[in-house]
Amino acid sequence: MSLFKDMLGADESLFKNDVALDYSFLPKILPHREQQQRHAATCIKPLLVGKNGRNLFIYGAPGIGKTAAIRHVLNELEEETDEIFPIYINCWQKNTSFKIITEICEQLGYKLTHNKRTEELFEIAKGILNKKAAVFAFDEVDKLEDFDFLYTILEEIYRKTIFLITNYPDWFSDLDERVKSRLMSEALEFKPYTAAETKNILKQREEYAFYPGVWGSDAFELIAQKTASVQDIRTGLHLMREAGNLAEEKASRKITLEHAKSALEKADSFTIKESSELAEDEQAILDIVKNNSDSKIGDLYSIYQKNGGKLVYKSFQRKIDKLEKNKFVNVKKTQGGKEGNTTIVKYATKTKKLTEF
Ligand SMILES: Nc1ncnc2c1ncn2[C@@H]1O[C@H](COP(=O)(O)OP(=O)(O)OP(=O)(O)O)[C@@H](O)[C@H]1O
Ligand SMILES: [Mg+2]
Repeated sequence: MSLFKDMLGADESLFKNDVALDYSFLPKILPHREQQQRHAATCIKPLLVGKNGRNLFIYGAPGIGKTAAIRHVLNELEEETDEIFPIYINCWQKNTSFKIITEICEQLGYKLTHNKRTEELFEIAKGILNKKAAVFAFDEVDKLEDFDFLYTILEEIYRKTIFLITNYPDWFSDLDERVKSRLMSEALEFKPYTAAETKNILKQREEYAFYPGVWGSDAFELIAQKTASVQDIRTGLHLMREAGNLAEEKASRKITLEHAKSALEKADSFTIKESSELAEDEQAILDIVKNNSDSKIGDLYSIYQKNGGKLVYKSFQRKIDKLEKNKFVNVKKTQGGKEGNTTIVKYATKTKKLTEF
C-alpha cells in the first residue's frame, strides 16, 4: 500500500546537519562581509612584517555578523601564521580584568592560573605575548566592569591589534581618556544586510542544514522576508529551525508555506537572547521593568536606586537601551505634553509578533 509513501519515516529527518542553524555556527564563507573582514585584516597586516598593528572599534546592531566576521578573520590568521596569537574574548562572559587575564592565559596554553592575582597572571601572559605579536578581539565590550586590563595591554604588549566590538556607537566616546588616547582607534560600522543579502545568507544556511529540495520556495521566501524586516539573521536561523521541526512533527517531506507561517506565529514569544544570558544587574533592571511596566524611565531609575542599584542614570539608560535592542523591553519616546519629553518603558512579555513587522 502506498498510504505512507509521502510521509517522513520515523527515522528520517529533513535536517542534514541542524548544528548549522546554531547561532555560534561559523560558515566557511561569510558572504557580504568581505569588505569588513578586509578592513580588519588591514589593521593586522603590519604585525606580519614586524611592526605594530592598528586598533579598530566595531559597532552595529545585533545579529548582523560582527562576531562572525571577526572570528573568521582570526581563524584565517591562525591558518596563515604562527607568529601572531589570536585571542577572542566575549566580555559578557568575562566581564572583569581578572577574568579576562585568566582567560588570556588559558588561551595561551598556560593552565596554572589557580590562586594567582591579576598582576601575576598578566606578567605571565606578557612574557608569552611579547615573544611574538597578538590580536585581541574583545566582543560585547559594553558589558565590561573595568578597563584596567585594556590599559595594561595598551601599555605593555608591544605588537598588537585590538578589536573592540559592541552594539553601541557612542560607547567609545564614553571611554576613559587615558585608554582612548592610547587606542588611537579607527571605527568600522556594520550596517544591516539588505533584503537580497539576507536571502543569500539564509540560502547558504539552508544548504548546510537541510537536505536538498525540502524547502518549498514560498516558505523560504516568507522567512527570508521576515528576517530582512527585523534585520537580524538570528531570527531567520530560529525560524528555519522551527519550520523544519514543525514539518517533521507532521511527518511532512517538505517544509511548506503553512509550516513557515506557524513558525512565525510560534515565534511570538521569541526573544533573540535568552534572558538567562543576562548579567545579574540587567536581570535586576528587567525585573523592575516587569513589575512596573509602562513606567517612565526616571521613575524606574528611582525604584532601581531604592532597591540599592548603584549605576548612574546614564549607565542605567544604556542598560535599558541594550534590553531594548535584544527585545526584552519596548521603549516609547513621547514628545511635548505637560511633562516635556519622556521615555516610557514597557516589559515585552510577548515580544512583538514577528508577523507584525
Ligand atoms: N554574512 C553572513 N554569512 C553567514 N552567516 C552570517 C552572516 N552574518 C551573520 N551570520 C550569522 O548570523 C548569526 C548572528 O551573527 P553574529 O553572531 O555575528 O551577530 P553580531 O553582529 O555579533 O550580533 P550581536 O551584536 O548580537 O552580538 C550567526 O549565526 C552568524 O553566523
Ligand atoms: Mg556578536
